[in-house]
Amino acid sequence: MFPKNTWYVACTPHDIAAGPLGRQICGERMVFYRGEGGRVAALEDFCPHRGAPLSLGFVREGRLVCGYHGLEMGCEGKTIAMPGQRVRGFPAIRSYPVQERYGFIWVWPGDAAQADAAKIPHFDWHDNPEWAYGGGMYHVKCDYRLMIDNLMDLTHETYVHSASIGQKEIDEVPCKTTVEGDSVITSRFMENIMAPPFWQLALRGNNLADDVPVDRWQICRFTPPSHVMIEVGVAHAGLGGYDAPADRKAYSVVVDFLTPETETSMWYFWGMARKFNPQDLALTDSIREGQGKIFGEDLEMLQRQQQNLLDYPERSLLKLNIDAGGVQSRKIIDRILAEENAVHSLSASALASA
Ligand code: FES
Ligand SMILES: [Fe+2]
Repeated sequence: MFPKNTWYVACTPHDIAAGPLGRQICGERMVFYRGEGGRVAALEDFCPHRGAPLSLGFVREGRLVCGYHGLEMGCEGKTIAMPGQRVRGFPAIRSYPVQERYGFIWVWPGDAAQADAAKIPHFDWHDNPEWAYGGGMYHVKCDYRLMIDNLMDLTHETYVHSASIGQKEIDEVPCKTTVEGDSVITSRFMENIMAPPFWQLALRGNNLADDVPVDRWQICRFTPPSHVMIEVGVAHAGLGGYDAPADRKAYSVVVDFLTPETETSMWYFWGMARKFNPQDLALTDSIREGQGKIFGEDLEMLQRQQQNLLDYPERSLLKLNIDAGGVQSRKIIDRILAEENAVHSLSASALASA
């Protein structure tokens, strides 16, 4: 259950630096590689000769060469050559629209005619000297919507991340959820509390005392299909919190791109863009390491939750006030899915009556 006429993060340029990458996205097996002129291409991972995965091949002079019998594939999905064969009658395979932006490769798994690069959201933090970015990727065996629930309800930090970003005040201060068009925003502001260990590290990273009371904020923003950007930070208490001067706070955006692999598995591109001390590469590394550990803690919970849901499909779940962010985000996804299905069935019935 995922929208297909939209852009998803597929991989990073680093992932295809050494050769083609096979990756299933929204149920479609794809191969990503750099073709002619260094341009990124995405094709079905299926050789038209005997169905071997093209991702087991290699790239030669911009052509993807099948690793089984040497068929040479072009970026548009048309066979260009094969040793000892005439290839003119070979069936074309599917190619997917791709874009390279913000340090990621984005793919449009749906109707290629609708792909519009302008629909990739804009992010201030990329290639901006005021910001630094570090991140990574996890493969998670759960429905991507469970991850949306997780990121839109940070009360779990108190329990799952008790040693790094969790603290009891998260439970004590209620969050507020609002819907603005296609965005869902869940926010929580905590005042005059002590910073937990991860935020102590961030304060030190901005040359600030880490043992004084702080104001802390979490503003989670879901946008379709499955991006969750979370403004997070702490400021020395009483200076305006979120609006405190830049040299008195540690302000970041947790970047989460969730890309479905199948109905019950996903690629989780996580990272943190920070707007303090951006030149400090060692700080980027220690934040990445800390964040990687924190997100690693979610994995077992989500994967075991998914297994429970598969084992007991008849069980109904509760929707509490803390779940509002996830519930509202799912409503937006459901509406987009209904729109895609309506267009799909309209064109199917037009075809049938033609
Ligand atoms: S299966 Fe690819 S060339 Fe034969
Ligand atoms: Fe978490």
